[in-house]
Amino acid sequence: MKIRVLGSAAGGGFPQWNCNCPNCDGVRRGAIRAQPRTQSSIAVSADDENWVLINASPDILTQLKSAPDLQPARALRDTGIRAIILVDSQIDHTTGLLMLREGVPLEIYCTDTVRRDLTEFNPIFRVLGHYCGINHHPLPLADGAGFTVDGIGGLGFTAVPVTSKGAPYSPGRHDADDPGNNIGLVISDTTSGRSVFYSPGLAAVDGRVYDHMARAGCVMVDGTFWTDDEMVRLGVSKKYAHDIGHLPQSGAGGMMQRLAPLKGRKVLIHINNTNPILDEESPQRAELTRAGIEVSYDGMEIEL
Ligand code: MLT
Ligand code: MN
Ligand code: ZN
Repeated sequence: MKIRVLGSAAGGGFPQWNCNCPNCDGVRRGAIRAQPRTQSSIAVSADDENWVLINASPDILTQLKSAPDLQPARALRDTGIRAIILVDSQIDHTTGLLMLREGVPLEIYCTDTVRRDLTEFNPIFRVLGHYCGINHHPLPLADGAGFTVDGIGGLGFTAVPVTSKGAPYSPGRHDADDPGNNIGLVISDTTSGRSVFYSPGLAAVDGRVYDHMARAGCVMVDGTFWTDDEMVRLGVSKKYAHDIGHLPQSGAGGMMQRLAPLKGRKVLIHINNTNPILDEESPQRAELTRAGIEVSYDGMEIEL
């Protein structure tokens, strides 16, 4: 299978429009070595022709312009995107659906909770009903239950409920017990048996999540923050990483420690613009490199 990183940044992107933190200001002025990044999304295919879009970021149109593989041009109106899977109802993962309104109904795979959010509280699905319409495919959440995506041969999927936070506008923000708020995805190549575990929003690595990570040939996981108090210390926000459902990389029990025993490829994704790892010359980036952990970038392709 091929995984293409369409957008490797967290909400806001990098640089963020209104931010002058050392990273955003530095990349704008060319004062640091860093690459700009668009908001969180990947695409996956087993045959280079039929793609699943996983999350639809506000930057989707720019992302598709730089991914010609996703436009096979077989007909007057065409796309390589056969379906869309959503891992939550966050703004950075769903707003791009509105940019895909010109075609046939969108085939959207998401939990019933995410469907509720996008119908009642941020009614993107209802709005799309006046354009292309959507067909909702509910995701099974029971332990061990997998699913397939119509039109996507050669790939199997499992939705894994993860600890994170629902979108700020959603009742799920305050309902940590609803497993439909946030999922990670195991994507398996049914021919080779190899799998990737993708989870851009992960506040804790519980036993079940760890088992999926340990079995995967590659993990692409939450790279939002280096420290819990990163945004508070910089003065850009009063929120800590744990308030918004992200496990920081550094420190005791952090993502680096959780990844250390894994044998497969380790890639961070959904990186916030405040994170020092974006500066390719930072000591934090060097620490990751020494630990064998990669930082994803827009346009990165992984073959599994
Ligand atoms: C998050 O994952 O917490 C988001 O990136 C927040 C946002 O979309 O603004
Ligand atoms: Mn996000
Ligand atoms: Zn910034």
